[in-house]
Amino acid sequence: MTKLNVILTVNGQVQSHDVEARTLLVHYLRDHCGLTGSHVGCDTSQCGCCTVDVGGRAVKACTVLAAQARGSTVTTIEGIGSVDALHPLQEALRRH
Ligand code: FES
Repeated sequence: MTKLNVILTVNGQVQSHDVEARTLLVHYLRDHCGLTGSHVGCDTSQCGCCTVDVGGRAVKACTVLAAQARGSTVTTIEGIGSVDALHPLQEALRRH
């Protein structure tokens, strides 16, 4: 199967991976970047477990092909806050 090279800036780091054209952004992040904070919680695009920031907009990463996001800046849950000072969103996820 033909692979596409997809380059994204994820959490401030350039990521470049050859992936199948049908690869969803959430799978690109989890399987190729090793960022497992974004989850696949449904198969109906309604749960929001896969939500990431793409260019300043909240995007359900299960609804976007990685190739569609080429060249974008992506921030995942791992890209905000720090171990010493959780981001309010991380703190809310931890609490609930
Ligand atoms: Fe449920 Fe994306 S996995 S909305």
